[in-house]
Amino acid sequence: MRIAVCPGSFDPVTFGHVDIFRRGAKLFDKVIILVSVNTVKTPSFTIVERVQLINKVIAETELTNVVVDIWDGLLADYVKQVGACAIIKGLRAVSDFEYEFQMALANKILYDEAETVFLTTSAENMYLSSSVVKQIAAFGGDISHFVPECILHDITERLIPKNIRGNNHGNS
Ligand code: PNS
Repeated sequence: MRIAVCPGSFDPVTFGHVDIFRRGAKLFDKVIILVSVNTVKTPSFTIVERVQLINKVIAETELTNVVVDIWDGLLADYVKQVGACAIIKGLRAVSDFEYEFQMALANKILYDEAETVFLTTSAENMYLSSSVVKQIAAFGGDISHFVPECILHDITERLIPKNIRGNNHGNS
């Protein structure tokens, strides 16, 4: 069985991530979405909350070969532990490349048996990131264009300040 790990912060998961999950699921027998720790980021959702959000989204899809897991150690150790042959990463723009390239090389040194596979983002998601969602939410903007409906309420509750909630977003 060809297993791939799709790691990320997913803080929160967006349509851009879901697109990568779907496309990864077509290429491998099993895809493990791995909610991991990025030491340079301060997340808005706990790691368990992020898993819950992804699980809600996955439950609404036809993706039967996708599971979600948590890991607070080195990605390479997890990949080795589950016997994965690939790490899936989405690439949006040239600006992502240097950082992703660096991580891919480091992971290859830490565990040589797995390849990092880059999937270019779909054109409609080029601009989309969790940070964009958080910034728009912080000002009460409509985030329904960026995250699946089934988690819109959870994200709104957390990210949109109470005093401006309901002014300008989809699921108020
Ligand atoms: O969505 P992100 O924040 O770009 O994902 C980055 C992530 C979580 C995949 C990366 O920080 C990571 O792999 N963290 C686990 C710890 C690790 O192995 N770090 C070294 C990577 S070379």
